[in-house]
Amino acid sequence: MSTSDEKVKANGKTEKETPPEQEVREKGNGSGGPILFFFLVGFIASLLVGWIVFPRLLYSKKKQPIDFNHALHVETVEEGCASCHFFREDGSFSGVPKLAKCMECHEEAQGEDPEELKFVSEYVEKGREVPWLIYSRQPNCVFFSHAAHVRLAGMDCVTCHGPVGESTRTKPYEENRITGISRNIWGKSIAGIKRNPWDRMKMDDCAECHAKEAAKGAADLERPIDGFFNNIIRIAFPESLLGRKSSAQTRNEACFVCHK
Ligand code: HEC
Ligand code: HEC
Ligand code: HEC
Ligand code: HEC
Ligand code: HEC
Repeated sequence: MSTSDEKVKANGKTEKETPPEQEVREKGNGSGGPILFFFLVGFIASLLVGWIVFPRLLYSKKKQPIDFNHALHVETVEEGCASCHFFREDGSFSGVPKLAKCMECHEEAQGEDPEELKFVSEYVEKGREVPWLIYSRQPNCVFFSHAAHVRLAGMDCVTCHGPVGESTRTKPYEENRITGISRNIWGKSIAGIKRNPWDRMKMDDCAECHAKEAAKGAADLERPIDGFFNNIIRIAFPESLLGRKSSAQTRNEACFVCHK
């Protein structure tokens, strides 16, 4: 502060005597201001475009056909998530329930809820399946098995999907206009920051967890006794939990594990 004040004073006093060189230098200093200003304006504008405008343009938002309340339904049904999301006898995963499941309770409207009335009049009465949008839908070339993760590895739904089961409203579905893929795959964060395991499910995210699991498995093998017996079990019963684990570990990098 004080130094700049002094400069002004000094300039005022010695204005006439200023030698030409110094004038030139001062002019040069003065033009640094506008350059910095325009640099900052351009820089901030490009940040805004890259972080806010571009993602808005890139993703289109769609509403689910019916606003479904998970929390309410989990309390109403008898077997929790498995009442609606279960494994069939052949081990395949049922996914989102069909209209028949909903009809067990909604053959007629149960209350006054406008979403329920819409659901009954537009889908139940017309016998039309609800065209739910799947947030976690992978591109067609990807093979994913719920049985391997939920049944064999004992993983929780939350690990990959987040707290969908406790939600009271459906989120908008965001679709990448170029690839047609759900934003849940590439993640919300443009900077690629991942706070929760369910923030993103790109190829690297699948592979990262598989690598971690493989490292855990390798650590098991290093403990001599455990490793010895585990190996015998793996070789003798390749279809057992341990046997399957080893298969996932050794074949992890093979593209055909996850690609059709
Ligand atoms: C009454 C049936 C019902 C029950 C019980 C139920 N869900 Fe759902 N679930 C649905 C329907 C319908 C959808 C599709 C609409 C939506 O995305 O909310 C869905 C969608 C989902 C999805 C989104 C999948 C995706 O990627 O789009 C997840 C995850 C999910 N459910 C997890 C759970 C969990 C965890 C529980 C238990 C805590 C549970 N659900 C209980 C009916 C049910
Ligand atoms: C076990 C019985 C049961 C089943 C199965 C069931 N519901 Fe419901 N549902 C209820 C009850 C009870 C309510 C609360 C009634 C009310 O106040 O409208 C409700 C409310 C609703 C509502 C209004 C509240 C909200 O979620 O916004 C919608 C929409 C709905 N259900 C859709 C569905 C769909 C879609 C399915 C099939 C995936 C389904 N329900 C399966 C019992 C059930
Ligand atoms: C290892 C991660 C992982 C776990 C654990 C997991 N899911 Fe998924 N889920 C996925 C992926 C990936 C998809 C998309 C699959 C695809 O597009 O083929 C998916 C799809 C779904 C769908 C939509 C399926 C469809 O095609 O209609 C539902 C519903 C769902 N999961 C519910 C659950 C529930 C309930 C649990 C817990 C019992 C669970 N998931 C556990 C990763 C997981
Ligand atoms: C948080 C950890 C985790 C994430 C995320 C995950 N997986 Fe897995 N996955 C596992 C584990 C653990 C196994 C081993 C299950 C077993 O066989 O015991 C496995 C097994 C598999 C298998 C079966 C392999 C075999 O040899 O039988 C396939 C296929 C697979 N994962 C695909 C995927 C895909 C695709 C994704 C991403 C969309 C994914 N996984 C995300 C943990 C994960
Ligand atoms: C752990 C599971 C896993 C393994 C192993 C894996 N991928 Fe993938 N891959 C995925 C998933 C999930 C996607 C979709 C999400 C994405 O684009 O990241 C994908 C996407 C791709 C795509 C882009 C396809 C598209 O439609 O956008 C290519 C190309 C690809 N993988 C090639 C490979 C090759 C080559 C290998 C072997 C070196 C391989 N992948 C191994 C899970 C896997």
